[in-house]
This record gives sequence, C-alpha cells and structure tokens, in this order.
Amino acid sequence: MSHSSPNKTFTIQPGGQLSGAIRVPGDKSISHRSIMLGSLAEGTTQVSGFLSGEDNLATLNAFRAMGVVIDGPHDGKVTIQGVGLHGLKAPTEPLYLGNSGTSMRLLSGLLSAQAFDCVLTGDASLSGRPMRRVTGPLATMGARVESTEAGTPPLKITGKQKLTGIQYDMPVASAQVKSCLLLAGLYAEGKTCVSEPAPTRDHTERMLKGFGYPVEVNGATACVQPGGKLSACKIDVPADISSATFFMVGAAIAPGSDITLQHVGINPTRIGVINILRLMGADLEISNERDIGGEPVADIRVRASKLKGIRIPEDQVPLAIDEFPALFVAAACAEGETVLTGAKELRVKESDRIQVMADGLVTLGIDANATEDGIIIQGGALGSGTVDSHGDHRIAMSFSMAGLRAAGPVVITDCANVETSFPGFVELAARAGLSIRG
Ligand code: S3P
Repeated sequence: MSHSSPNKTFTIQPGGQLSGAIRVPGDKSISHRSIMLGSLAEGTTQVSGFLSGEDNLATLNAFRAMGVVIDGPHDGKVTIQGVGLHGLKAPTEPLYLGNSGTSMRLLSGLLSAQAFDCVLTGDASLSGRPMRRVTGPLATMGARVESTEAGTPPLKITGKQKLTGIQYDMPVASAQVKSCLLLAGLYAEGKTCVSEPAPTRDHTERMLKGFGYPVEVNGATACVQPGGKLSACKIDVPADISSATFFMVGAAIAPGSDITLQHVGINPTRIGVINILRLMGADLEISNERDIGGEPVADIRVRASKLKGIRIPEDQVPLAIDEFPALFVAAACAEGETVLTGAKELRVKESDRIQVMADGLVTLGIDANATEDGIIIQGGALGSGTVDSHGDHRIAMSFSMAGLRAAGPVVITDCANVETSFPGFVELAARAGLSIRG
C-alpha cells in the first residue's frame, strides 16, 4: 500500500513483442547512496541519471529535513551542498521513508551516530519488515535504536551515543545491513568490519572510495575507520539492472522480440539475473562494456528464445535477489521444472515474494508451489486472470511481462508502488511493444 498515491490497476492485452533500444531509469541502490554520501561530503556533489522514484525521493527528503540543501531532481540531475560528516541538523518531525527498506536500514546506521534524536517511519509494508538485523549489531556498537516489540519500524534513535567499532559476521547476506554498519562505522571509535556469508552488492564500498574515503576490502570482509572525510564528486548513475530485468524477461519469452537495454549497470554483485537467464537458454548479448565512475556499465541485447527450466544455483541468489519475481515468470514460460532454494529472504521483501508470486502464477494457470525457502514452477501455458500485486512494485511489473505470453488479458491490482522504483514504466513498456494500460 502506498501512503500518498491512489491505487492503480494495470491491464495487459496478450501478444506483442519487445523491440527497439531503450534506457530504463537510474539504479535505485546507487541513487540512494549518492544522496547519503553527497550530503555527508564536503563540497558540492553533482549527480546525473538519478532515479526520481518515490523510494529515492524519500531519502532525498529525509536529508532536506536534516538541513541539507539539495537542488533537483531535474531530468535526473541533482546537486547536493554537502554539510560534512558532522553537519546534519536534527529533523523537526519523524522522517517518513515510505516503502523504502534501503532508506530505513542505511539511515538507521548513519543516524545512530549523530548528536540528535530522531524517529524513522514507513508505510504499511515497511512497517512490517524486520529491523533487528540492523538494531542488533548497532546495539553492540553502542547505539540506541528502539523498534517495536516485533522488531519492526518505527525506529526511535537516541543520539549522542559513543559508538565503538565491531567485527560483525552477518548471518544473512544483506547489502543493507553491511551498508548500515559501515555508515555507523564512519563515526565509531576503532575499526568496523563486516563479513558477508556470500557476496552482496558493493555500491557503498565503491562510492565511499569514489568520495575519497578509504575502505579496506579483504575477501568477504569490508572495514572502515573513523577520522576520514568525504570529498564531493560527480556521480553518473547507470540504468538499473533490476528495472532492465523486466524487459530482459519480456523479450526472452515473447516470440519475435529483439530489444537493446542501454547503459545498464553490470556490477558483478548484481548480475545473477544474466547468469540465471543464460542457464535457462536465453539469448543475451553484452556489448559496449565500460567503466562509469567506478561502476561497470554495458548495453544488453535480448532476443526471444526457447527457455528451459533449471535448478537455480544457490550462489546466484544474493546476486539476483530483486530479480526473482521476473525470473519466476520466465520459469513459467520455460519448458520443464524450475527449482529455487536458499531464498528465504524473498519472504521479507516489499511483500512475501514467494507466496505472492506463487498465488499469481496459479491464478494464471501455472503449477507453482511455494516452499519454505523458494519455489517449484512447472513451465506451462499462461492463461488470463486478475492478479493481486500486494502493493509490490516488482510483482506488478513481473506480471505485466507475463501478459506477453498469456492466452487473454492479465489484470494486475494495487500497482501504485511501481512509482517507488520505476516511474514511467507503463509508458516505456508500451513504447517497447507491450499492450499495457495503467
Ligand atoms: C539493497 C539491498 C537488497 C535489495 C534492495 C536494495 C541495497 O536488500 O533487495 O532492493 O540498496 O542495499 P538486502 O541487502 O536486504 O538483501
């Protein structure tokens, strides 16, 4: 459920194919971090390609509420007058972070180290998401962050605590937890180190280095020390591979498709979707690889092909964590069985993505069985029907692509939150060849 926008329904007519060359909006993870680090830097940071989705605007508004002067976004351009690591001011009201787990988890670390108190709140979905994964280790560092008894938001942060660096072994592979602790570590006495059980997105580490702040990365462990400073810089945000995913899957499953996705971030910690689609037999061509401000970028051409069901390698799970709703649609269109295991985290995203996807696929006539930590999908023929996205942006966009192969219209309800990560989705998808109304 979205706090502010009225509800929305998407209707997709079957048939169609995806073609042309498109650039999807900017990377959500990198856009969040550009506001956070730009605000804490000394000097003026200029961001281009910024994602003006509701999640990122929640982060931007939070920093404005803490006294940072930010101009934009205008056409993806944002200018941030950094206040330095110690220049944030107490917000006068609770910081409302909407649907955005990334905002809440990263800010909980950063704000637990400030000289003021604050409260972080969110919408119905965010208010049900687990926060102990951050409040636990932050407490070990000496922070005071209170959640509800269930370990959920709102988070009440008491400032003026003296933090001490820790070595933390994360029980789950989470870039949000890692980033939260590294941001707190910028202010803690001594060294803060976070070890991950499997590689997770490393945008925080890369961007800290881009701002001139030393980060020590040794295998699965990243460490920071206090006392450094961030120097303003220019950031060019690549297109979001998570948003490109819907078009990759759509083109792979819709006969006759041939689409090129331009300027997509292909950070090695994010390319699980490419690896998994290739294992399923998808025809993906990567070209024009280049480095943009410390992040690898490329164009991705996808042509329709016959997909086959696979057992998804567990080591790909954290590398494709946001891409599974779309991958399940690919699995529904593949020949044979697809099995996912080791993906329990999907149950605590913006919705329970295992259950909500299984329910939607069953509604469309696919044999899909949710398991505790994954799903088993038998490829088959997609029928028509009405699917509830449960206010989850990625579920709504994934089922939109299913419409390409459905036997009749697919109606998707509760789609307003597509605005959190992909403003302009309906228009861009229609331009690429999907018969969608929303
Ligand atoms: C994100 C990390 C991931 C991902 C989320 C964005 C980030 O969450 O699902 O959409 O920007 O750090 P976890 O790290 O909790 O898996």
